[in-house]
Order: sequence, then structure tokens, then C-alpha cells
Amino acid sequence: MKGAGKGENKILVANVDGKFYAMRAICNHHGGPLDEGPFYEKEVTCPWHGSVWDVTTGKCTWFSEPLKDEPAYKVVVEGDTLFVEM
Ligand code: FES
Repeated sequence: MKGAGKGENKILVANVDGKFYAMRAICNHHGGPLDEGPFYEKEVTCPWHGSVWDVTTGKCTWFSEPLKDEPAYKVVVEGDTLFVEM
């Protein structure tokens, strides 16, 4: 999993079973950097307070309170280059 961009436009790109997925990398709880959290299978954990996010959908799958979805983006692979459709 890698992060790219800055500020509110920062995204993360993750490889899940050979397919690439992208989502906004700023946790909407209090702005934690999702691209710096631990990644397992298809989920990333926010390093600040532990919310868990499905990188294939941008949905929060676990937290102590409901959090809105983060935008998820389509990733297109052309050769060695990844393009994220935003
Ligand atoms: S900032 Fe991500 S869970 Fe609080």
C-alpha cells in the first residue's frame, strides 16, 4: 500500500489479490493518515484511533461510531503505470 498526493487530495493505492484500488487517505474521524496505517488483506486501520476501512469500497467496516464513506476511485493499469480516475 502506498500514499500519494497532499492534504485533502491525498489518496492511497493498494494491491488486493493482484487488483489495484484507490481511496482517499484522510480518515474523516479526525483526519488520520490512512496510508500510514497497517494494511491486512483488503483493510487498512487508521493509525490514530483504530477505525478500519475497506480499500476496495472506501467504507468504514469497524469503529465505535458510524463514519461516512471515503471516496473510492477506479485504478487503471497501463504497462507499469497506474492511473487513478478521480
Ligand atoms: S482519525 Fe482515524 S479513527 Fe480517529
